[in-house]
Amino acid sequence: MCGIFGYVGNKTAYTEVYDGLKKLEYRGYDSCGISVIDKGKFRTIKKVGAPDELNGKSNSKATIGIGHTRWATHGVVNVKNAHPHISKDGTIVIVHNGVVENAHQFDYDLKSDTDSEVLANLIADEYTLDLGKAVSRALEKVEGTYGIAVMHRDDPKTIVAARRGSPLCIGISGDNSETYIASDTYALPPEISRVIYLEDGHVATIAADNLHIYKADQAVEFSHKITGVDHKYNAGDREGYTTFLEKEIREQPVAIRNAMRGRFSKDFTNILFGGIKLRKKVRRVLFLGCGTAYHAGLVGKYLIESIAGIPASVEYASEYKYKNTPTEDGTLIVAISQSGETIDTLTAIEEAQAQDHMVISITNVVASSIARLTNMGIYQHAGPEISVASSKAFTSQLTILVMLAIYIGRKHNLSKVQAKRYISQLRKLPALIEKTLDICTECKTLSAKWTSMKSCKFLGRQFMYPIAIEGALKLKELAYVDCHGYPAGELKHGPLAAVGYHAMCVYLAPQKELFEKNVSTMKEIMARDSHIIAITQEGLDFPEDTYDNIIYLPKAPDYLQPILAVIPLQFFSMYMAQSHQYNVDRPRHLAKSVTVE
Ligand code: AGP
Repeated sequence: MCGIFGYVGNKTAYTEVYDGLKKLEYRGYDSCGISVIDKGKFRTIKKVGAPDELNGKSNSKATIGIGHTRWATHGVVNVKNAHPHISKDGTIVIVHNGVVENAHQFDYDLKSDTDSEVLANLIADEYTLDLGKAVSRALEKVEGTYGIAVMHRDDPKTIVAARRGSPLCIGISGDNSETYIASDTYALPPEISRVIYLEDGHVATIAADNLHIYKADQAVEFSHKITGVDHKYNAGDREGYTTFLEKEIREQPVAIRNAMRGRFSKDFTNILFGGIKLRKKVRRVLFLGCGTAYHAGLVGKYLIESIAGIPASVEYASEYKYKNTPTEDGTLIVAISQSGETIDTLTAIEEAQAQDHMVISITNVVASSIARLTNMGIYQHAGPEISVASSKAFTSQLTILVMLAIYIGRKHNLSKVQAKRYISQLRKLPALIEKTLDICTECKTLSAKWTSMKSCKFLGRQFMYPIAIEGALKLKELAYVDCHGYPAGELKHGPLAAVGYHAMCVYLAPQKELFEKNVSTMKEIMARDSHIIAITQEGLDFPEDTYDNIIYLPKAPDYLQPILAVIPLQFFSMYMAQSHQYNVDRPRHLAKSVTVE
């Protein structure tokens, strides 16, 4: 959460930082700000709202600067609480991502309600002509998480960056004359292809043409590893779509093709995952994730059990680290995270690794913190997902999970013949998604019809249960409608009491073998004067008294239906949000990657 960007070089820093923040605004967009050092003074501009609010042009020619786009944790959203923050004596300016948990222990007279301003003052107090050392000493006193970029008014050549739990990378220009700091490589200019990922506990002293990295607590410098960064997946712009969300929903056929590319054996009887080398036979799978990634894990559980034939379970990453989870020898932990930066998932992995489990990750962001921490995993190659609401990353995760189930199944009882059948069905998936995208035009009419709904229940059995809760999350997240998802069979165990006159339900029923069961549950709902939007597949003729509206997905095997069924739900939520004129790409109170607990 929150985006950090910094620049030191020979160009106009304000513009470089502004351009970087524009690309980072999906990480937080409630307020923003930029500071540059100009003729021995900080020039700082802060605004409420997304970086667009900062004028991209400045008359300052300063060549060093830092900026921030905020997702509020401490203090309400206003200019006073926006970053950068300046120490009381006016010497230190800081942008901070994370939470200083012991901020209340320090007695400073603050201008803002933020923990970050405390950090600026601590650094100012520690300063004795060496900014790197001052930052290291100040950080020794704080508890919590941080990614920071700091400047001293009297040192117009240096930015100090440090990290604990909040990602930061340093981008270096080809001729070493410019250095960038960013909380995401995605924000770096396309010509920057050399990057250093700052590790936890490290401090970097960055000048335009030289760089020192050392451990905060030892001040011992060590050589850093420069990695190449590939900008080929950079999103650029909305490419003609009015929102990133619509663009990303429509990119799903491509994302799914990319997830499969190069991952089938020549005879199409097995899956190739170059990034996985397991030290033991997998006897059980435990999925970890948050939000949509958790829902992917839930589908993964059904897939592993039905295709690989071994037990599987799923835990919220945010819960896993606070509980005892009995596991057995041979448990494979699969952490799922689109961003690869979610702090709950990251810390859950650390916990699993401390217990000596085999851990792999499924992430969309190459070299993200989770990808580096697990050191073994599967990249999604879905291309950047900018909209806060996850769409193509989810269906790409589901595709990879089908492949993972086949991969593990082949090491158990799944025969070559069966694996070949699954793979042949999977290869038809992009075409099925294209068909699904075509039929989703009717979602716009549907959302217009139901635009005033105040609550909605999403129901489905078996593979459709995770899609029910994902559908509920999408509508909640985008259109701010109070929604819940349930296994359809749970209705009689409580939720039916809340299904009354004019209640809205989205009922997911594409499975042939569950047809009768679903018909009877749908009738129970309709008998209570409620309304149903049904989602089924071609060839299933639901009686007319079981729904108000119905969407027919193309025919597909049951284990691929979740990937198709979620698409009308994505569109429906998007159109609902648009009908209320909500910001589809940046829902209120949320941010794309959740890097604070
Ligand atoms: C999805 O629409 C949400 N914005 C959210 O639930 C998200 O999936 C969750 O925060 C996990 O993110 P990650 O995949 O980047 O770890």
